[in-house]
Amino acid sequence: MTGIATRAPRPPAWPRWCRGRRAVIRWAATAAVVAFVSSIGRAEERDPSRPDDVSPLVWPIIKQKCLDCHNAKKQQGGLDMSSLAAMLEGGSSGPALVPGNVEKSLLIELVEFDEMPPRKQRENRVTPAELKRLRQWVEAVKPPAS
Ligand code: HEC
Repeated sequence: MTGIATRAPRPPAWPRWCRGRRAVIRWAATAAVVAFVSSIGRAEERDPSRPDDVSPLVWPIIKQKCLDCHNAKKQQGGLDMSSLAAMLEGGSSGPALVPGNVEKSLLIELVEFDEMPPRKQRENRVTPAELKRLRQWVEAVKPPAS
């Protein structure tokens, strides 16, 4: 029965969860996650090649998987994908993208049917998650004010 009464009062302290070696690890891990997440945001925001009219959510996909063959200089099928305006203008089959209309957007259709990127470029296939993002962007994109 001695314990409780004789124990020295605790010094005012940090709460338990931010003391000790475990806490240091926890803080370090948290800081690393925060730094990582904000670096993703920055990388997307800072890409100077991204045109204002294309969302940072889809630009990395287009840039990596489409732009080699669909840019201002090299327009396979007559299509330049280096901006939303150029995608709206489209190629020899008409607009590649119809704002808000996934079904009518040729670029979605060709990716869905695994026609684009061309099949010889297997390593550059659009993943299901990327296709989902492209669809969401097409759904959300506003036609430019004319
Ligand atoms: C290796 C080169 C290459 C890559 C990479 C590529 N394409 Fe193509 N794309 C072509 C060629 C070649 C055509 C023309 C096919 C034809 O006319 O039969 C074409 C045609 C198209 C067309 C139809 C244009 C029109 O009006 O006829 C669309 C839309 C398209 N591509 C979208 C994409 C998208 C989206 C990506 C990226 C996910 C992509 N392409 C990646 C070579 C490429």
